[in-house]
Amino acid sequence: RTARFTLDPAFTVGDVDPRLFGSFVEHLGRCVYTGIHEPGHPTADEQGLRTDVLELVRELGVTAIRYPGGNFVSGYKWEDSVGPVEDRPRRLDLAWRTTESNRFGLSEYIAFLRKIGPQAEPMMAVNLGTRGVAEAIELQEYANHPGGTALSDRRVEHGDKEPFGIRLWCLGNEMDGPWQTGHKTAEEYGRIAAETARAMRQIDKDVELVACGSSGQGMETFAEWEAKVLAETYDLVDYISLHAYYEEHDGDRDSFLASAVDMESFIENVVATCDHVGARLKSKKKINLSFDEWNVWYMSRTGAEVAALDWPQAPRLLEDVYTVTDAVVFGSLLIALLRHADRVKVACLAQLVNVIAPIMTEPGGAAWRQTTFYPFAQTSRYGRGEVLDVRVDSPTYDTERHGTADLLHATAVRAADGTVTVFAVNRGRTESLPLEVALHGLSLTRVAEHSVLSDADPDARNTAAEPERVAPHAGAGTVLTPDGTLKASLEPLSWNVIRLA
Ligand code: AHR
Repeated sequence: RTARFTLDPAFTVGDVDPRLFGSFVEHLGRCVYTGIHEPGHPTADEQGLRTDVLELVRELGVTAIRYPGGNFVSGYKWEDSVGPVEDRPRRLDLAWRTTESNRFGLSEYIAFLRKIGPQAEPMMAVNLGTRGVAEAIELQEYANHPGGTALSDRRVEHGDKEPFGIRLWCLGNEMDGPWQTGHKTAEEYGRIAAETARAMRQIDKDVELVACGSSGQGMETFAEWEAKVLAETYDLVDYISLHAYYEEHDGDRDSFLASAVDMESFIENVVATCDHVGARLKSKKKINLSFDEWNVWYMSRTGAEVAALDWPQAPRLLEDVYTVTDAVVFGSLLIALLRHADRVKVACLAQLVNVIAPIMTEPGGAAWRQTTFYPFAQTSRYGRGEVLDVRVDSPTYDTERHGTADLLHATAVRAADGTVTVFAVNRGRTESLPLEVALHGLSLTRVAEHSVLSDADPDARNTAAEPERVAPHAGAGTVLTPDGTLKASLEPLSWNVIRLA
């Protein structure tokens, strides 16, 4: 059976905020060290940044980059990470049972962003695990105040005359999780988040603040956590965070392929909770969503990996090597974000390099693209504009975890120049899926490109030995008929980008 939908510019979801294409750099494993920072690497610049990685980061098209954690931030002492490198202390990182050298810190992070280019924006998390209001505003003063105070002058002395201009801040990380250093109840966190937000706004009323939501929809405290935290912080913050990771469980690939069903319900449930609190407070303000950790992550392997560590420095951790199947699910997660672009205004792919990442590196060696690199780069490039309201009529299949799911998962974005890009996944593993899209009120005449990521081997992946094994190819037989119907055949288990001009 054919899957169908209609595109009409009169029916839209909302504008895509560029920050939807954010990512995340945590002091975890080799994300920073030998990932983005490796003095002595043949491509390293004067600050030790790997320029081969910088080039790939630019190609990936990331915008906001969240830093320095993640779980790491809940033990983070920002003062350790500034000033002369040789004076910076080595510390235990309780989150990942490693030793942090602080060779890379705040100043290097800002330098990294500036080298990516103007599209890259800081998104800094403050430590509300082991620390609180005072340290958050001290960091803000050090980073953002132009000069003439002890802390801002210290930044200038450290060689950063220009303030860092950090506008977007996360108030802690996953504070609902018992694994978090300084884990809190919703009441405790709501209070400290509110007080930190109030103080940060005393320095700069225009900062944008993200309160911690649940670290997953499956948490026992989910929804109640959001409601209690927002009851304290509603007028003080702009966003609530969501985190979600997906993996294949016990060989159940059909459920894995439908992971975005869960992601969409998570988003809708958080929106409902935010609006419920807003209604209770009789507020006109809307809290938007920061989906600031999302990805495919084989998390079930991680616990043992971390427990076995004896405080090494930058070990190999969470270095998942992604398959074509993972990339198709990953593309579907991007589609889920776009489909909710009216409320999801920030999203961060966790993470950027080596750690559950689209970019991999070898110390002293090459950098390459994982399978997931392609859907992200394409969506960041062509998913800018206005999301059209896509309601699919699709054949379905049954899954154990997510009930009955559509074989087709799709969205479409109309760019400022009137061109439209359709992003579509065929979740079916064995059959091609015929697709027909009726175009109403759009002056489009041709298929500019149909790019497909699929493979005869669904477990194919890119590795150091074979870094270009998987890459997108051109789809065949895709046409736009004179009566304005897009016709395509989506290969089994495929990620598709169809550009109409
Ligand atoms: O991204 C890896 C980890 O996942 C982060 O440190 C934490 O916030 C989440 O649990």
